[in-house]
Parts: sequence; C-alpha cells; structure tokens
Amino acid sequence: MKLIAPSILSADFTKLGEEIRAVEEAGADWIHIDVMDGRFVPNITMGPMVVEAIKKVTSLPLDVHLMIDTPDRYVNDFAAAGATHISVHAEACVHLHRTVHMIKEAGVQAGVALNPGTDLHSLSWVMEDLDFVLIMTVNPGFGGQSFIPKSLEKIRRLKKILSEHGCEIPVQVDGGVNKTTVKSVSNAGADIFVAGSAVFGSPDYRKTISELKGILEGAGE
Ligand code: DX5
Ligand code: ZN
Repeated sequence: MKLIAPSILSADFTKLGEEIRAVEEAGADWIHIDVMDGRFVPNITMGPMVVEAIKKVTSLPLDVHLMIDTPDRYVNDFAAAGATHISVHAEACVHLHRTVHMIKEAGVQAGVALNPGTDLHSLSWVMEDLDFVLIMTVNPGFGGQSFIPKSLEKIRRLKKILSEHGCEIPVQVDGGVNKTTVKSVSNAGADIFVAGSAVFGSPDYRKTISELKGILEGAGE
C-alpha cells in the first residue's frame, strides 16, 4: 500500500483548516506536519498548539516530523496534541533508543528520520523498535527543494537491510517528491510519499494526488 502525505509546509497558512480539509477530500492519506526549531534546521515553523488545531479539522493520521534538537523534550506535548505518528532525527537525539521508546509509550507510532548525509548504520540498533523509517531526500528546512538522486540507492539499501532483519516496516520519503520523481522513488522501495509543494503548489489538489497515486499504481511496470 503506497500512501500520499501532503506536507502542510507549503499550504496557505492564512486558511490552514480549509487547506487540510481540501487535501483530505482530494484523497490524502496522512497529513505531514513539519516542526522546525531554528536550531536543528535553519527555519522555524509550528508547535503542538497547531497540531491540536489541525486535529479538530481532520480525521486523517497526523504525521509529525520533528526537525528539532533533543526532541524528547516535546514528544509528550505532540502526543497529547493528537499526533498519531512522530519521527525524530537520529542526528538530533543523543539517546535515540530512549526517545523512540518515549514515543511508543505515548501511544504514538515511532519513526526515525535520516538526513541525506547520515548513514543507515544509525538505525541498526533501533530498527526493530520502529514503526517506520523516514529517508530525507533533501536537506531538511525548506519546501520546494530538488530531490537528491543518490537517495534512491539509500532507499534500496535500507529495504534490503530491513528485510534481512525481518523488519517489514514502511519507508517514508520526504523532499522533492513530485510527478517526475515519484516513480523512481517508489521503484526503489518507498511506501509513504511526503509531498509539499507538488500538492499545495498545484491548482487542483484532487487531480495532483490522483496523478501521483496513478503513477504509484503503475510503478514497477
Ligand atoms: C523539508 C520538510 C518537507 C517539505 C517537503 O524540510 O521536511 O516535509 O515540506 O517539501 P517538498 O515536497 O516541497 O520538497
Ligand atoms: Zn517533513
């Protein structure tokens, strides 16, 4: 099952509720929420209050991508706000194993995200505890960047490692996913596709999400 998770980073924040309802009606599977702290990444976005507000307008899973230093400080706040999925960056956690378990103990699905320059080895001793892995296909911080082609090999290697460990968890990709790149990313083995500018920058969300899903259904052929 391949899922589309529009990232609200590229939504019109003056009408965030309407934007979220619109992508839900257009066939989105998850809502991806990018949390940035101006320290781990050079941009600042939103906190648990915004997640709490989003929860009121959609019944879709809320996938909170924490691009913040020492994210364990905020895991419980995001869980209480209604996150169904939380991913933390391996690079931002001194005690990654502890943070992953903190997410799970809060009743939330746990993911670990890796920057383009981070090796898959960071996952070795936590992968069996995870619900998903997030491979960044751009350097985090901004929407609308170009997909890093080298990521395809990383996704393929990750799928192989997961399967060798008997760990059939989904692989999420984030950054530069659009109608041009989605097929190769899917063929490399990705399962969940975050798309910000490709969805919210398009004039017709339903058409864009259907086209992306159409490409995914045909991928591998
Ligand atoms: C980047 C964020 C992404 C971003 C993706 O730091 O994590 O979720 O919104 O945007 P696009 O799809 O435009 O590359
Ligand atoms: Zn993201």
